[in-house]
Amino acid sequence: MSRLTHPIHDFRYKGGELYCEGVPVASIIRKTGTPAYIYSHQTLVGHYRKIAAAFKSLDPVICFAMKANGNLAVLRALAREGAGFDIVSGGELRKARMIGADMQKVAFASVGKTEEEILLAIRAGILLFNVESVPELVNINRLAGKMRKTVRVALRINPDIDAPTHEKINTGSLRKKFGIDLKTARGIFLDRKAYPSLCINGIHIHIGSQITRGEPFVAAIRKALAFMDDLALKGVVIEYLDIGGGLGIIYKDEAPQTALEYARKVMPLLKGRALQLVMEPGRFIVGNAGIFVTRKLYTKDNGLKKFMIVDAGMNDLVRPSMYGAHHEIIPVVKSAARKIVCDVVGPVCESADVFAHDREVADIKDGALLALLSAGAYGYAMASNYNARPRAVEVMVKGTRWDVIRARETFRDLVRGSFIPEYLK
Ligand SMILES: Cc1ncc(COP(=O)(O)O)c(C=O)c1O
Repeated sequence: MSRLTHPIHDFRYKGGELYCEGVPVASIIRKTGTPAYIYSHQTLVGHYRKIAAAFKSLDPVICFAMKANGNLAVLRALAREGAGFDIVSGGELRKARMIGADMQKVAFASVGKTEEEILLAIRAGILLFNVESVPELVNINRLAGKMRKTVRVALRINPDIDAPTHEKINTGSLRKKFGIDLKTARGIFLDRKAYPSLCINGIHIHIGSQITRGEPFVAAIRKALAFMDDLALKGVVIEYLDIGGGLGIIYKDEAPQTALEYARKVMPLLKGRALQLVMEPGRFIVGNAGIFVTRKLYTKDNGLKKFMIVDAGMNDLVRPSMYGAHHEIIPVVKSAARKIVCDVVGPVCESADVFAHDREVADIKDGALLALLSAGAYGYAMASNYNARPRAVEVMVKGTRWDVIRARETFRDLVRGSFIPEYLK
């Protein structure tokens, strides 16, 4: 099946033109310019619904991992579907509040939470702190005590499982900074009375991202359950199990498990257990819901290689430079032009500023548009202003309407908050 007719998203060619749902992409770009992120509302909520339906019988709290895409309209769309949020900073907590999220569906992970962030989260009344170290536990207990509150805690355990994914997004092994080793975690549970302002009754695991097979998840959950059963023998009752995110998606030719297949692997493990399931999918929900559109500037040929130079750079979409990630690159208007093999590169002053190496692409005219697919997750969210480049515009399409959901940054945004001291004037 051609990738563009696969129902993983709502970006399709109609009459040779790329559409997002009912809107021609080129018609949006005529108004917004490039570079631009364009999201399909239908794909976004569709993916949320897929996971919610697959796990329905367990009534999980599905916390969208906001780090994947923190656009307020994206968050609002998911909150309206019933999603909660996995957050990792005070900024993300404030975003959740701003879009009217149900705080009883918010879980707060992160290996380094500041006092200010902890206080903010205690005041907000979040569901769960996912705690990643003993000093953090001590801190939260102290601050909750001061506020005369009891705070629910899950320990993020490090199951020491090396999931088959990119080194930089593998988080479940003891070589990584994440979570608490099992021996220390066991000690905390057995000594939980030492933390009178905490209700330590949850276990959290998150072994990495873009994991396409179910086995590593199953292995990690089995390990968490065995750990739990051992604690039960000592009278420790665990009520919350947060299985994190990490579900892989299709970027190129991957054949990842579907939400249903994932549920079929995971749910039997939890059968008969009185556990509240929490999940934190990010990429799975938003990854295929977005494309990134850039304009070809021109091509150059140095005798050895050809380079197609576009008006977007690694500051806009860093995944190819950072992880060697693959994004399909297609023309926004289908082209009969011959194909060339080239590097598709941006204007940023780094050799790493490459969207594709030795890729066969249509030799479109200068000024024509290209779309990079599956750019909804960790795209805009990881964008920067490197090389004094304003961040791109973000657009959401729903049916035949489209809205700018975050304006393109301006030069003013780039220098906002900067000051030249008196002695330099
Ligand atoms: C604790 C935690 N939960 C969930 C996620 C989301 O992962 P994914 O986008 O792969 O689902 C991450 C990603 O880094 C994470 O660190």
